[in-house]
Order: sequence, then C-alpha cells, then structure tokens
Amino acid sequence: MNFQKICVLGLGYIGLPTASTLATHGLKVVGVDINPHVIEVLRNGDIHIHEPGLRAVVESALASGNLTVSFQPEEADAFLIAVPTPFYADRHGEYDGRRYRLADMRAVTAATEAIVPYLRKGNLVILESTSPPRTTTDLVQPILERSGLKAGADFHLCYSPERVLPGQILRELIENARVVGGITPASAEMGCALYATFVKGEIIATDATTAEMVKLMENTTRDVNIAIANEFARLAEKFGVDVWEAIRLANRHPRINILQPGPGVGGHCISVDPWFFVETAPELTPLIYHARRVNDGQPHFVLEKVRQALGSLKDKKIAAFGLAYKPDVDDLRESPAVEIVHLLQDEGANVKAWEPFKPDANLPGLDMAASREAAIQDADALLLLVKHSEFMSLDPAKIRSQSRARVVVDCVNGWDPTQWENAGFRVFRLGVPHGPSQPFSS
Ligand SMILES: NC(=O)c1ccc[n+]([C@@H]2O[C@H](COP(=O)([O-])OP(=O)(O)OC[C@H]3O[C@@H](n4cnc5c(N)ncnc54)[C@H](O)[C@@H]3O)[C@@H](O)[C@H]2O)c1
Repeated sequence: MNFQKICVLGLGYIGLPTASTLATHGLKVVGVDINPHVIEVLRNGDIHIHEPGLRAVVESALASGNLTVSFQPEEADAFLIAVPTPFYADRHGEYDGRRYRLADMRAVTAATEAIVPYLRKGNLVILESTSPPRTTTDLVQPILERSGLKAGADFHLCYSPERVLPGQILRELIENARVVGGITPASAEMGCALYATFVKGEIIATDATTAEMVKLMENTTRDVNIAIANEFARLAEKFGVDVWEAIRLANRHPRINILQPGPGVGGHCISVDPWFFVETAPELTPLIYHARRVNDGQPHFVLEKVRQALGSLKDKKIAAFGLAYKPDVDDLRESPAVEIVHLLQDEGANVKAWEPFKPDANLPGLDMAASREAAIQDADALLLLVKHSEFMSLDPAKIRSQSRARVVVDCVNGWDPTQWENAGFRVFRLGVPHGPSQPFSS
C-alpha cells in the first residue's frame, strides 16, 4: 500500500508528535482537533504542549507544507485516532461493594463519527487511544460501518497502542517496538505498512483485542507494582525501617525489582487504564481494583506525614515543589501532587505551589508561585512532591538563606537528608519513620 495522505484526529501529546513525524517522513498529514486553542496555536506556528524536540519537528512539518491543521477530517488513505480516553469524574460502577471508575469514550465515539462521511473503500482506520478491551470491534467498527462500507472487506481497521514515555516521545515513537492489531490479518498487515513509514523498532502484527489488552496489561502491571511499593513504605514506617534502603537491598536479589514508592500515581495512563479492566470484568479484578485504591489513597498518607512534621496544619505556610505527575514533564493530569495540595488546604494550610514546567497552571483553588523564591520566602515547610531534575540540584544552605522554613518533607527520596539537616532543616521522609537520619540512598 502506498500511503500518501493521513488524517490524524486529536493533536495532543500523542497525536501531534505522530502527525508531525508522519509529515517529516514525506506524507501529507491533516491534523484535526476540536479545540480552537490548539488549532490557533498551531496555525501560528507555535505548539501548545511541552515535549522536548517537538517544536522543531512541528515547525519543520508545517514549513514543508506537509502538515496542515483543521477542525474537520478530510478524505485520506488512513485515519489515526489519538483522542483522550479519561474516566468520568461523576459516574461509577459497583460490584460486590467495590466502586469503580467508568471510561469516558465520548471523544473516541465523536472522532470515529467524524470520519464516517470521509471513509472510502480501501481506507485504513487505526485507533491509538488507550481503550477498554473490544472497543475497536464493539464501538469503533459499528460506527464506521454506518458509512455503508464493511470493516475488513471494504476498509481496514486496527488498534495500535501508543507506548511512548512523555519527555522522550519523539525518539520512542520511532524506536519503540510497535504492536498492531487488525480486525483481520489483512488489516494488521496494512497497519504495519503505515507504521513502517517512520518506525524503526520492531512492528508486530496481532489481532485488535490482543493489542488492546497488551496496552492495559503494561500499565496495570506498573500500577500494581507501584501499589506494593507504596504498601511497603507504610509497613516500613510502622516497623522503623527506611523503605528506600530496604528496597535497594531487596533489589540486589537477581529476580526482584521493586519499584519506588511515592506520593501516588497520576497522569493520563497508569492511574486510568487499570479501571478499564475493572469496568469490563469487575468479577475478575480484585487485585487490580485494590492496587488502584492503594495508589489513590497515597495522598492521604502524605497528608499524615506533613501533619507529623508540622502538627496542626491550620494557617501553616507550605511551599509545594512540583505539581506534575512525574519528573521533568508539564503534565498535571490526575496528578497526586495536586490532590495533596487540596488535602492540605482542606486542613487550613496555605500552600504555594511551584511548578517550573507550568508556573502559570490555572487549576481551580491552587495558589501558584511565580518563582521558587516567591514560593519559599514565607514558608514554614518545604514539601517535595516531584523529582524534577532542577529540584535535585538545589543547595540547602542557599534555600535556608532565602526562606523562613526549617522543615522539609520529602515524598520522593529526592534530597540527601544529611545535607539538609546540616543546613539546619528537620527532615521528614515518606517511607522512613521520623527520628535520627537513616543513611541516604539515591
Ligand atoms: N500522553 C501519553 O503519554 C500517552 C501514552 C500512551 C497512550 N496515550 C493515550 O493516547 C490517547 C491520547 O492521549 P493524549 O495524551 O495525546 O491526550 P491529549 O489530551 O494530550 O490530546 C488529545 C487531543 O484530542 C483532542 N480531541 C478531543 N476530542 C476530539 C475529537 N472528537 N476530534 C478531534 N480531536 C479531539 C483534544 O482537544 C486534545 O487536543 C489517550 O487515550 C491516552 O490514554 C497517551
């Protein structure tokens, strides 16, 4: 198949890098988004998300004329759907006393419906959005068949999960192995051919539902493994042990690889995707359900830690370092750090948040500091929530000279407690009972 024109629906963290990479590999690409801000920013030659290297690729794609953006799809050889699949904020399912989240598939439905008038014989449609098992065959296929064309016979249909790491998206898009699941072997073959235009990693054909499960299994495995690390942190505090040191020692075992605990699990993927299994098979997923609950409960564990450090939180001034859900990204979606700030505020604390990747984040109820200095100046305590590289290189003596704070709460094992104590701070660490410092391990 000779692909010439591709239509990419959804120009976010996944769709925009994909659309611009396809365009810089010689294909004509129409990038579609329903958000006027996204279209306007791109039409002005700018980008609306932070991702290393993305600006240069988008600029080159736009300058070549290969990438154009639009509110509407157009006829094309292939359509690629990369729209959000969050869960509903206000709707839940229930099974055996367990309340679980429900996938909000409205964007996938709307994007698929938008393709229908432009679908032609011989076209390929690929869903990339992370989705509950069987979405491709049970939701997307029937909508596309409203065109009068038959999936597998008149057009091809695939599911291909995106597995890139935010911060490394442009490299991983090209280098990672790619799983392409077709509703028929011919669809899979066609999907593989499209990715072969830019993917250098292995491209593996399978069926659509297997490909959907692969993605959910990857993220669910990480969620369950983080949940056990978080439970180990709670146990370590109970038994007077430094969890970071205990994990480091356990991981010396050749077949053990315990992940790191932290303030919780966030982002668009790991904190969301396991619910897609729970929703579609609640009777089979007690472990996945409970792991989600453990990770969702971690912000409350942090709240207790801060209470331990400061006593009553009423009117205490806290500088929160980092709101992103993971280091060195600007993505605040489902971030446990944001929830922790709200929990502290509910207890009467005044929290100033310093997020260097999004200093002007406009989240309801949040007090953003314009600079690190502004965040720490009047603070009683510093709360480290994200291991951003720039936080790791801070000099405690300098911070002490710029701030009234004499208490540090470190939720990510980011700061050497001895250094901070030597600079005059009392240090509290998640997963470490308070008392004389334990040896620092990085
Ligand atoms: N961000 C990641 O690192 C990552 C990794 C793997 C998988 N995924 C999955 O990829 C999908 C997309 O995620 P993302 O991070 O790019 O989301 P995003 O929110 O950054 O971008 C999605 C874009 O789609 C647009 N959109 C919404 N409805 C639309 C419609 N009907 N038609 C056209 N555009 C529409 C939105 O305006 C937005 O710009 C999700 O299912 C996500 O779970 C994301």
